[in-house]
Formats: sequence, C-alpha cells, structure tokens
Amino acid sequence: MIVSKLTLRNFRNYDHVELVFSPKLNVIVGDNAEGKTNIVEAIYYLSLARSFRTSEINDLIKERRQFATIEAVVDNLTTRKEIVALMTSSSKKVSCNGKQVRRISDLSKLINVIVFEPKDALMFHDSPLVRRNYLDINLSKKSPVYLENLIEFEKLLKERNSILKGEEIDKIHLDVVTKKLIEVEEQIVRYRLAYISEINKILSKIVKAVKGDDDEAVLNYNPFIRMDEKFSQACARAYEKNLESDIKHKATQIGIHREDFSLSLNGKDIATHGSQGENRLVVIALKLAPYFLIEDEGEKPIVVLDDALSELDYIHRQRLIIFVAKMNQVFITATELNVSNATIFVVNHQNITRRNT
Ligand SMILES: Nc1ncnc2c1ncn2[C@@H]1O[C@H](COP(=O)(O)OP(=O)(O)OP(=O)(O)O)[C@@H](O)[C@H]1O
Ligand SMILES: [Mg+2]
Repeated sequence: MIVSKLTLRNFRNYDHVELVFSPKLNVIVGDNAEGKTNIVEAIYYLSLARSFRTSEINDLIKERRQFATIEAVVDNLTTRKEIVALMTSSSKKVSCNGKQVRRISDLSKLINVIVFEPKDALMFHDSPLVRRNYLDINLSKKSPVYLENLIEFEKLLKERNSILKGEEIDKIHLDVVTKKLIEVEEQIVRYRLAYISEINKILSKIVKAVKGDDDEAVLNYNPFIRMDEKFSQACARAYEKNLESDIKHKATQIGIHREDFSLSLNGKDIATHGSQGENRLVVIALKLAPYFLIEDEGEKPIVVLDDALSELDYIHRQRLIIFVAKMNQVFITATELNVSNATIFVVNHQNITRRNT
C-alpha cells in the first residue's frame, strides 16, 4: 500500500499543506524544527489513530486552532481509498471513503505503517515495556486473535489485581480468575514464540545487508514459564507459590505483562556489548522485519525512517538507503541527504518544495 497524497490542516506546525508522494523512496529534508517529523507522524497517525510521539490529541492540533485534519489517498494494487482523520481537543475520528472506522484493528488493515523514530535506537536500553510494545503492536496487526487475547488478558489482570487489593481475599474468585488468566497467557506465549521465531528467520539477513558484515543477530525470548505440554500446570503452581508475595504487593507479579526479550549480535548482548551505531542498525533491522513477514505485495506496509541515519557512518548510510530503496513506499527524514532516484521534499517555513533526483 502507498500514500499517494497527503493533506494536512492545522496539524502541528502546519496551516495547510498538500503533498503528492512517490510510490518508492521519499526523502524529507530540512533544518531542525521545520516540520519533517510532523509529516511522517501524520502518516503514522492514520494507521493506529495515535501518534508515536504523544498520547495527547491537543499536541497534534496547531496552537490556537479548534481542530486538525489529516487526509490521505491510499492506493493498494487494485483499490484507492480516502482516509480522513479529524481531531478536536475532546474527540478523534477516522473515516474511510466517508464511513467511520470504529476499530483500530480495521484501520491498520487500511493503512499499515512501520516506523523507526530516534528514541528507538535505545530500544534495548529502555524499559521492557518498549520491547513488549514492539511485539504487541506487530503481532496485533498480524493477528486479530492475538489482540483479542491481549485485551482479555488486560481485563483479567485488572480483575485479579482488584481481588488482591481487597481487605479479605476471595480465594474462590481468585482461583477462577487465575485459571482464566493462565488460559489466555498460554495463547499469548504461543503467539509470541511463533512470531519471534519468524522474525529470527529474517533478522540476520537484514542485519547482514545493512551492516555489511557476516553478523548473526538473534532475538532471545524466554517465556515466564517454559512452553511445553505442562505449561498450564506449571503456571498454576507458579501463581500459587507467588500468592503470598502477590497479596503483599497487591498486584500480580508474574505473567506475560512482565516478559522481555533481548537481542544478541554474534552471541553478545547488544545492550551491554553493542556500539551506538550497532544498536541503531539492529533496531532498524528489527523494525523493518515485519515488512518481510507480509507476503502479499499489495499489503506491504509503508516504511517510515525518522532521523534514522544520524550517527551512522557514510558506508552504513549508503547500505541502508540501498536496502530500503528496494522496498515499496519509504519515507526518510534527515537534515541533509544526497540520494539518487528519490523524490525529495525540502521543508522550509511551512513551504515544501518537491523535486526528483
Ligand atoms: N501543536 C503545535 N502547534 C504548533 N507548532 C507545533 C505544534 N507541535 C509541534 N510544533 C512545532 O513543530 C515544529 C517542527 O517539529 P518537527 O518535530 O516536525 O521538526 P523536525 O523538522 O522533525 O526537526 P528535527 O530535525 O529537529 O527533528 C517545532 O518547532 C514544534 O515547536
Ligand atoms: Mg524530527
């Protein structure tokens, strides 16, 4: 899928801007604070009805304006859709061809965007939540059943925690909820294991292409309980063993909500052994990986690399550009970048000029 046209009104620093994009490589250049990230943020917003930078709608609406809109023409192999997002300080709505889209999972089917943003470079130095979000967002887009499981898990976790917070613990209620929780967790762990194994099949290939070395990159994920035929019994025992501590802390302390994964490059943990550039490159590779897991050409996601090239040396920048130039529609933002066979957008005080190289 590709965004052929984007129109912003009162979005971030823009009053009104209309952009016609290339179906291949789009490079957005300009000085700091000119509004490069704002453009790719608008594209990303359409895929999840939320920004990657803020959870406040008001941040997205231009100062002193009542509303903001993002309009996009999205082309698939055979179809053309018009997606419109409207934001006011108290509401947000997205429509496709004039009909309101109610579920976010429907939205990511209409327009799927994968993004690398500057803070992702430190993904393996950040909290486990950031890494779980990577898994949860990508898996939810791929499998609506996973998303349902996740929503069900959150509901049960809340219920279990509220029992643990009670003056007197209702043991029967607790057992019923714990049993249901374990059932959902078994599904979630199975999905996570399968997805990580899929990612691992392609991760090293991408890392080799962008790093240029013979490096092996592997995601390591150990579920909170080993996955075998005895998972549910082992899980039940673990919850029983941890009950006293859960009651003391008034919260469920073990489960899929505390899981994490790490990445090793040539057998060494990237967080403790990797250089800054290596961290950046492997995270970019990880972010690009879901693209290759979608087989249908028409369904391939739009790729956004926001300020991904800074800190990379000349050779690695070139390798990365050559690699992404083979993908479908890609957006790269940078303060300066010389690249051939791309459509360049120069952002300067809300004026955006387009040229081809
Ligand atoms: N709601 C808003 N109303 C008006 N201006 C805003 C709003 N939100 C952000 N801005 C402004 O938008 C400007 C551009 O932001 P953006 O993050 O897109 O810059 P950028 O070109 O990506 O810069 P950098 O190279 O530093 O990453 C900033 O000066 C910021 O103050
Ligand atoms: Mg920026």
